[in-house]
Amino acid sequence: MRILLIGNGAREHILAKKIAESPQCEELLVFGNALNPGMESLTSTYHVGDLEDNEAIVAFAEQNGAELAVVGPENPIANGVVDALRAAGISCASPTKKMGQLESSKGFTRDLLKKYGIEGNPSFKVFESEEGMAEFVENLGAFVVKADGLHGGKGVLVQGDHFESAGEGLEAAKKFIDSDGHVVIEEKLVGQEFSLMSFVDGDHVVDMPTIQDHKRSYEGDKGPNTGGMGTYSYPDRLPFLEASDVEAAHQITVKVAKALKEELGEPFVGIMYGGFMVTKTGVRLIEYNARFGDPEAMNALTLLETDLVDILKAQVDGTLDQLDIRFSKKATVCKYVVPEGYPSAPVKNEQIEIGDVPEGVDYYYASVDQREDGLYILGSRSVAFVATGETVEEAEKLAEKAASSVSGPVTHRKDIGTRELIEKRVEMMEALKN
Ligand code: AMP
Ligand code: GLY
Repeated sequence: MRILLIGNGAREHILAKKIAESPQCEELLVFGNALNPGMESLTSTYHVGDLEDNEAIVAFAEQNGAELAVVGPENPIANGVVDALRAAGISCASPTKKMGQLESSKGFTRDLLKKYGIEGNPSFKVFESEEGMAEFVENLGAFVVKADGLHGGKGVLVQGDHFESAGEGLEAAKKFIDSDGHVVIEEKLVGQEFSLMSFVDGDHVVDMPTIQDHKRSYEGDKGPNTGGMGTYSYPDRLPFLEASDVEAAHQITVKVAKALKEELGEPFVGIMYGGFMVTKTGVRLIEYNARFGDPEAMNALTLLETDLVDILKAQVDGTLDQLDIRFSKKATVCKYVVPEGYPSAPVKNEQIEIGDVPEGVDYYYASVDQREDGLYILGSRSVAFVATGETVEEAEKLAEKAASSVSGPVTHRKDIGTRELIEKRVEMMEALKN
C-alpha cells in the first residue's frame, strides 16, 4: 500500500518508522511543514507544505497514489483534512472534522457524556454569558476555566496554578466568552493523571498501555505547562492504578465511541486518547484527544508488536475485533530534550549534537532542522529519547544516559521515570484514598 502520513514531529517520526517497517507498506508518503531528518531517511516522497492547506495535501496524495492516510497532529483533523481526503476516495485511519470535535470542543465532549449518561464528568457548565457564573463557581469550590477550541494547551486555567482568586478566574472566563462565544467552567479534580489511548473503528475499542505524561517544564513538576516533557509506562499498568481504574477508563471510552456514532451518525475512526484522572472517588475524564499523544506515542508504539498497517486497515474496515493486538510487556521511559528557556523563551537556531546513545534506546526528531553543517534546534521540543527495560528503573537509566549525551543549549527533566518521583505519586494517591 501507498500510505500517507501527515505531520513531522517525533510522534510522526515513530509512526513513520512503524509504517515503513510493515511489509504491507509499498511506499510511505509524508506531508509535513518542515523536513524531519529521521522521517526523510524513511521515504523519498516527502513534501514540505502548509498542514492547514487541505487542497495541497489532497493534491500530493493523489499525485502519489495514496491509498490510506493517517494524521498525526490535531490541527489538520480540526481543519477537515480527513473529509477532504475521503472526498477524493482516500481511506483515512483518523477522524473527520465532525468527529474531531471530541478534541476540538471541550464543551461538545462534556455535553455528550452528560446527554448519554456516561460517568466521568466533573461538575461543569458551559456559559455563553456571564449570567449565573459567579453563583456557579461559589458552589464548586476550586475550579478550572476551559476555552473551547484548540488553544495549543494554553486554553486551560486551573485555580491555584494559573489564577488564585475566584474573581481572577471569572475575569479569564469572561475573556474567553468575548473571544469564543462560550467557555466551560468545571470543578477542579485532585488525583493522578494518566493517558489511555485506544485504537477505535467505531464499534471496537482496543487499549494501549496506560502512560503518564509530565506537562510541567521543570523538575518536581514546577514551571509552565508544555506539550509534555516525558512519559513512562510499566509492564502492566501504572503503579497508582488498580485494574478496576483502567477498566473504568476503558468503559468510558467504549461508551463515548458508541455515543459519538449515535450522535453524529458515523463511526469514530482513529485514536481516542483519554486524559483521565484517578481521584478519591473514582476515574474522571479530563479531556479527549482525537489522535496519538506526543510523547505517549513513543511509549505505546515502541511496545506495539502487531503490524501497525494491519491496525490502520482494520480501523478503516471496522474489523479491529478480528485482530490480535499485542504490546510487549516491558517498561518504557521517554525523555524529551528541549531548548534552554523552553517553553517561554526558547533558544533557537543553535546547533546540537547527539552523543553516544546506549543500546535499547531509540530517538525521534521533533522541532529540529538538519542543515549542511549539522542539527539545529528550532525552539520547540527537540528530540525524544525512548528506552525500554524490564523495569522502569532500568529504562529510566538508559533514557537519562541518552538524553544527557546531547551537547548544545538544551535541557531535559532528569526526574521523569525515577523511583523518587514515581513513589511520590503512589504516596499521593494512597494518602488521598485513606
Ligand atoms: P487539558 O488541555 O484539558 O488536558 O488540560 C490541561 C491540564 O489542565 C490537564 O493536564 C490537567 O493537569 C489540568 N486540568 C484540566 N482540567 C482539570 C480539572 N477539571 N481538574 C484539575 N485539573 C485539570
Ligand atoms: N501528551 C500531551 C498531548 O499529546 O496532548
